Amino acid sequence: MRPISPRARALTAAAAVSVLAGAGAVAMQTEASAAAGCRVNYSVNQWSTGFTGNVTVTNLGDPISGGWNVTWTFSGNQTITQGWSATVTQSGQNVTATSPSWAGSLGTNATATFGFNANYSGTNATPSTFKLNGVACTGSVGGSPSPSNPGTSPSNPGTSPSNPGTSPSTSPSNPGNQGPKVDNPYAGAKGYVNPEWKAKADAEPGGSRVSNNPTAVWLDRIAAIEGTDNSSSNGSMGLRDHLDAAVAQGAGYIQLVIYNLPGRDCSALASNGELGPNDLPRYKSEYIDPIAAIEGDAKYKNLRIINIVEIDSLPNIVTNTSGQAGGTAMCDTMKANGGYVQGVGYALNKLGAIGNVYNYVDAAHHGWIGWDSNFGPTADIMLQAAQASGSVNNVTGFITNTANYSALQEPYIQPTVTVGGQNIRQSKWLDWNQYSDELTFAQAFRQKLVSVGFNSNIGMLIDTSRNGWGGSARPTKASTSTTVDTYVNESRIDRRIHAGNWCNQSGAGLGERPKAAPASGIDAYVWVKPPGESDGSSSLIPNDEGKGFDRMCDPTYTGNARNGNSMSGALPNAPISGAWFSAQFQQLMANAYPAL
Ligand code: BGC
Repeated sequence: MRPISPRARALTAAAAVSVLAGAGAVAMQTEASAAAGCRVNYSVNQWSTGFTGNVTVTNLGDPISGGWNVTWTFSGNQTITQGWSATVTQSGQNVTATSPSWAGSLGTNATATFGFNANYSGTNATPSTFKLNGVACTGSVGGSPSPSNPGTSPSNPGTSPSNPGTSPSTSPSNPGNQGPKVDNPYAGAKGYVNPEWKAKADAEPGGSRVSNNPTAVWLDRIAAIEGTDNSSSNGSMGLRDHLDAAVAQGAGYIQLVIYNLPGRDCSALASNGELGPNDLPRYKSEYIDPIAAIEGDAKYKNLRIINIVEIDSLPNIVTNTSGQAGGTAMCDTMKANGGYVQGVGYALNKLGAIGNVYNYVDAAHHGWIGWDSNFGPTADIMLQAAQASGSVNNVTGFITNTANYSALQEPYIQPTVTVGGQNIRQSKWLDWNQYSDELTFAQAFRQKLVSVGFNSNIGMLIDTSRNGWGGSARPTKASTSTTVDTYVNESRIDRRIHAGNWCNQSGAGLGERPKAAPASGIDAYVWVKPPGESDGSSSLIPNDEGKGFDRMCDPTYTGNARNGNSMSGALPNAPISGAWFSAQFQQLMANAYPAL
């Protein structure tokens, strides 16, 4: 994981693609001389230039097998960019949504739900007629309109993004766990110390100096929920075990990483996961639903449960689709099939409905999203995912730098500095980025998120587990060079070869210890990536976790477009991602900043 795509700056992803979600064409067939009738509920969540549509169709007639389609005609310039749970195509103003190959039957009174994202300008009127397999949906069999037809009026016309509007119906598994949520779940609360991580840290010489810090528990596969799986990168405690242990510790909060999207880690290989690109249904039913059921248990209602939601996923489909530097076909697929936006939306919806649960969505880091061409589009896709969840209220905030190494602050290379008459943004290191460190970036991105429609009280987290960059190589003053590149290279706190390097970085140290409310707009500095756990193997190591070998983890690799064709800077002899990497842990302690 942690690919970065430095810029793709010329390539702001504009929309206007008709969308093909899921499988190919399905033959339509209704029963011979069947009675036909249907009802459609169409609702939208819209903002000034786009909207998410949700369509529920109920078959009131005889059972349909072998596939269905729902058709309608937009009256304006609505342009669908993405669909899910159906193959949604558009030709001019005419839209056809075709059933997925695995869900082509619709019994009497059965419903199917699908959705889409679209752009528009002007007005966004509700289509006047919907048809199921060519028969108009009037709310009754045989065509006479039913007054109870909720059909064709948007449930929240003209809403702002903060309108919870069409929230998919979800109730917390336990209604006892109702809000109100606190503004900052870290404030005044003691963090849960994961005993499995602590044991590994304590087993290292000197490890007890840091082993009492709270680190996140990564639910990085379905089996991690039950916890019976003792593979090299996972412990044997399941979600309930951790929650019970947190209660027993008297912890005020626990941090969990929700990390199992279909087609996970689409731009890299080291953290590919178990679910294939079309496994959104499994993600929902086998992963998120069980997690929601456990998090909603009234036993845990006094614990603040913090979910870090899907590292790198949404930024990947902004910057790493084909046509962009280093873009991949898998990111194209995950953009087109809506698996990331819908998966994140589903997770936010289900988990956000529980009163003591707090969702922070991953927003990559400054060395990925800091260019103007990536900054706004990433905020927009965050909003799309929140919209897909039904409400921005499902989002407490965002996290940056998860499992990355970007320095918290760069006192000597703020992008306003000029050297020898030249702005340092044009250095090779900054490469025109607007930001040089995580704190400035996170605070600015928070403002941007509020401006696109998130609540004004959202807070940011910064993963400071490995961005310390202490030790003897740390500069203590600005360089006196008048050459831009020399000045930047001698002055920067981040000692990586290139800011696009992300795997087991040589020279890195532990960063700020976890701390609540450390700076304006920041809910906490956190240790989400548990220090000592590898980012990926330095050479191919066969495993049964779906993890690939990414050459960014190979110290002999000379790089690619995404790291300026630089050396990877990775430590040698690393195990697969998530597995304990003693040499790295020792280095992180030695280079800790603040020092241990
Ligand atoms: C891995 C996960 C692991 C996590 C925390 C990720 O890179 O893919 O399996 O749980 O890091 O170490």
